[in-house]
Amino acid sequence: MKVGVMRLPSLQLVSLMLVAAVLAAAEGVSAGGFVAPDEVELWRGGGGEEEDDIGVWEGGGGNDVVEEEEEVEAWGRGDGEEDEEWEEWEEEEEEKDFSMNWRSSQGRGRMPVNVETFGAVGDGVTDDTQAFLDAWNKSCSLSNAVFLVPSGRRYLVRAVRFRGPCQDNLIIQIGGTIVAPEEPKDWDPKNPKTWLYFSKLSGVRFQGDGVIDGSGSKWWASSCKINKTNVRPIRSLSLTVSSTMQRSSYGRSCGWVVQALTIDSSIGVRVKRLRLQNSQQIHFTVSRSDAVRVSEMQVLAPRDSPNTDGIHISESTNVVIQRSKIQTGDDCISIVNASANIKMKNIDCGPGHGISIGSLGKDNSTAVVTGIVLDTAVLRETTNGVRIKTWQGGSGFVRSVRFQNVRMLNVENPIIIDQFYCDSPTTCKNQTSAVKVSQVLYRNISGTSKTPRAMKFACSDTVPCNNIVLHNVNLRVENGTAVTFCNCAMGFDVGVVQPAADCLKSDSSRCSDGTKGGSQDEDRTSWVHTEL
Ligand SMILES: *[C@@H]1O[C@H](CO)[C@@H](O)[C@H](O)[C@H]1NC(C)=O
Ligand SMILES: *[C@@H]1O[C@H](CO)[C@@H](O)[C@H](O)[C@H]1NC(C)=O
Ligand SMILES: *[C@@H]1O[C@H](CO)[C@@H](O)[C@H](O)[C@H]1NC(C)=O
Ligand SMILES: *[C@@H]1O[C@H](CO)[C@@H](O)[C@H](O)[C@H]1NC(C)=O
Ligand SMILES: *[C@@H]1O[C@H](CO)[C@@H](O)[C@H](O)[C@H]1NC(C)=O
Ligand SMILES: *[C@@H]1O[C@H](CO)[C@@H](O)[C@H](O)[C@H]1NC(C)=O
Ligand SMILES: *[C@@H]1O[C@H](CO)[C@@H](O)[C@H](O)[C@H]1NC(C)=O
Repeated sequence: MKVGVMRLPSLQLVSLMLVAAVLAAAEGVSAGGFVAPDEVELWRGGGGEEEDDIGVWEGGGGNDVVEEEEEVEAWGRGDGEEDEEWEEWEEEEEEKDFSMNWRSSQGRGRMPVNVETFGAVGDGVTDDTQAFLDAWNKSCSLSNAVFLVPSGRRYLVRAVRFRGPCQDNLIIQIGGTIVAPEEPKDWDPKNPKTWLYFSKLSGVRFQGDGVIDGSGSKWWASSCKINKTNVRPIRSLSLTVSSTMQRSSYGRSCGWVVQALTIDSSIGVRVKRLRLQNSQQIHFTVSRSDAVRVSEMQVLAPRDSPNTDGIHISESTNVVIQRSKIQTGDDCISIVNASANIKMKNIDCGPGHGISIGSLGKDNSTAVVTGIVLDTAVLRETTNGVRIKTWQGGSGFVRSVRFQNVRMLNVENPIIIDQFYCDSPTTCKNQTSAVKVSQVLYRNISGTSKTPRAMKFACSDTVPCNNIVLHNVNLRVENGTAVTFCNCAMGFDVGVVQPAADCLKSDSSRCSDGTKGGSQDEDRTSWVHTEL
């Protein structure tokens, strides 16, 4: 599609300019392909550019028209350049992987540190925790070491913390299966609820074809979502607990959030080709980290396993997740507070709850999430497709988000912004404060919706969403007519958008002063969303 800039009415030109800016802002995310430790600083340097782009958005446009024309033109021409950028990037990665493979580089000074050398038995019954810790201590203290979990066996490991910093170039090679104790009561109640917890790593790689199995079925059965007698208040946690849980940015009103694999407070970590399955709750958390690359992961848990998110990103920047397949009982990927420049590419999700930004703003908290890109994904039979979810009463903002090239297969809520999110056994009071949502672009999204409401923009009355852009969206319902729902959401559409989203353009001037407006003839109770 060629956009004739000069012929456009000015309102639309400004709008297109905004799209160009969101694209440009999102481009910044891919700038830091490879994350060798020495490149981490470079990648970080890229952050500044993105702020400029956000500045363009905030400026509101008028004066920037001339400068932005080129970008608008480039955008109109299509995606060619962007795709090339990805291809180059992936080739580069393959090359470096080959040279870093521990077997091929063994002859060049790689030092394997095998857990079996430290007494691990690998029969799935004997407790191998101490052997893992001893092997960790050794491998962490050597340069070019490989922490080796051999293939073909099952190692039972209790909740354990692997702390860095380590010497340079550590590889964690997981060939076999690491399995957690089945009984929740075998977990030390004073131990924070993380299972395999890694912190303060720099330039470390996780690789191998191994499996990390959380043995979660007994945890699921005792979840308050399954067994309603187990609803209990969140207890105050010790100071050593990751802030993810401590501040309950992802908190469950019915207890702790258990994380199977956690990478916390780390820089330049790469994780490739592991399988995570049957986690107690969240399979893989990246928290308080920068420059993390995750690829070719597989997450596998039953569709009805509670809170078993696939990959959860919290307080982290410059994270790339690609070529991963996630089948689980909660969000395939969730991105929460203080995360920026997160890129997801080639994601296969479902069953699960879709790909989410949030939840954010619980318990009146402040959250900021910017620069999120999902490019090329298929969502199969998920309860949501691409979702932004915020609690009432929060503050902060979600800005500069792009979801593109997404295929929806019988998804319940393919496109959804839910500012009335309430994952709680008690109903949530409606409040005037909210996390502001703006600059969200949906481009080339197609497929089938399981419910008629294929697109839902349920935004706060007092803090409406704005600059919601739909570009070539085509969602169908098998037996019926798809519709778009808006409450206090403002934006526009470009290209073919089906179902029509005229409600984004309707007068919402009454929304921001606290009275209901810009919405359709529906009762609030029918769309306030409760997941529990
Ligand atoms: C780790 O190894 C060092 C020696 O390299 C030793 O002094 C220390 O006690 C060990 N720590 C643990 C937790 O085993
Ligand atoms: C639910 O939890 C309670 C208290 O932990 C327990 O006594 C009961 O057996 C559980 N019910 C089921 C069906 O697991
Ligand atoms: C959000 O992240 C910021 C920056 O890390 C932190 O200061 C704040 O406490 C976090 N808020 C919540 C609710 O976790
Ligand atoms: C959040 O703020 C509202 C309004 O000020 C207040 O009524 C409510 O108790 C607060 N909730 C929490 C969890 O602090
Ligand atoms: C739109 O997205 C689909 C994947 O869902 C992809 O196959 C197709 O090439 C994309 N179209 C364009 C024009 O990028
Ligand atoms: C809260 O919700 C009720 C009904 O659900 C509505 O009547 C009221 O206006 C809302 N208040 C605010 C401040 O949004
Ligand atoms: C659509 O209608 C057909 C024929 O009535 C029926 O067989 C099919 O199950 C329906 N599909 C859905 C998703 O309701």
